[in-house]
Amino acid sequence: MFSLIAVTMVRATPPVEAGKAIFTARCAACHNVNKVIVGPALADVDKRHTIEWIVNFVHSSQSVIKGGDKAAVELFNKFNHIQMPDHPDLTADNIKNIVEYIKSESVAAAVEKAPFAKPTQLQTAYKPLSLHDNYGFFIAYLIVVALLVVGLLFAVEVKIFERRMNEKVK
Ligand code: HEC
Repeated sequence: MFSLIAVTMVRATPPVEAGKAIFTARCAACHNVNKVIVGPALADVDKRHTIEWIVNFVHSSQSVIKGGDKAAVELFNKFNHIQMPDHPDLTADNIKNIVEYIKSESVAAAVEKAPFAKPTQLQTAYKPLSLHDNYGFFIAYLIVVALLVVGLLFAVEVKIFERRMNEKVK
């Protein structure tokens, strides 16, 4: 009975949470999602490789490298021939969960990087005016200026007219 509850609880753990737990215990010493530590930053790793590639690499990176996989060999050279330890006991599902966790963290980072993407973040009000984007504004501006000029001319005319009338009265 208790083991049934335990199994249900394990099954109910969401992939991201499960992946995070394994990542923290087994990978975080060398990997961060968004920073290079000992190993590469793992953000968007699912876009660089297929899930099969990732599973094989995590099971035995040296087998993939010695198998001549171009991407793996390049990585190994780039990271000064540091060998990533094998994790043969992790199941494909475990590794998929890790990838889910990496994905969730990559998205968070992408939002962090885009300064105006967050609705809660204050935006700067200043935006340089450009004739192209603010066409309507410039038109309205010209109309207002034109009205002011017309108004001024009209006021001058009225003054002149007033003066003439006054002269006639005298
Ligand atoms: C002792 C340090 C170390 C640990 C622990 C480690 N890695 Fe790595 N990992 C590396 C290094 C170094 C590389 C770069 C390739 C190489 O040198 O073999 C790498 C490469 C990778 C790559 C390819 C990344 C890319 O940008 O293409 C993946 C995926 C990866 N590791 C996943 C994991 C996972 C998942 C774990 C935990 C289960 C883990 N690693 C644990 C050191 C480590």
